[in-house]
Amino acid sequence: MSNIKKIAIYPGSFDPLTNGHVDVIERALEIFDEVIVAVLHNPSKRSLFSSAERVEMIRQSMNGLKPVQVDTFDGLLVEYARMKNAVAVIRGMRAISDFENEFQMALMNRKLNKDVQSVFLMTGLRWIFTSSSIIKEAAQFGGDISDMVPEPVKIKLMEKFPKLN
Ligand code: PNS
Repeated sequence: MSNIKKIAIYPGSFDPLTNGHVDVIERALEIFDEVIVAVLHNPSKRSLFSSAERVEMIRQSMNGLKPVQVDTFDGLLVEYARMKNAVAVIRGMRAISDFENEFQMALMNRKLNKDVQSVFLMTGLRWIFTSSSIIKEAAQFGGDISDMVPEPVKIKLMEKFPKLN
């Protein structure tokens, strides 16, 4: 057995982090020694929260959980993975509808860097219908999303959408 730490990158927009994401992070920690949650910093992509806000919410939600690092990245994901000495990229899978896009991305990433494996983890059944975008939409109109996101995210959503309480 090698003593080298197995690091995985969990990349995404995380606009914002959901309980589905947290579930994937927890599962990934059962396989890897360290998980780097990497928030895409892309100023040209419209997002509700800035990348700094997204990072802060993830840090608060992970509550200092040791093997989890939170960072931002831009440019090519596989280059970032190489820089971090990661062996894998984690992606959560919900329904079949996720598959096509994920398949294409995984193949492109593999073409660009054969040393990084894409690992797909099935999201817990409870979270199969949730996504950051549908949660934002519900929150915007005052829908109760409190059991779908960690508490620090709920607080930030309430600041953005005062109707939510
Ligand atoms: O949460 P998302 O929006 O589904 O995450 C998509 C993400 C950030 C993983 C993807 O857009 C990405 O990796 N962007 C960085 C650029 C890149 O390397 N793209 C894939 C190969 S072209």
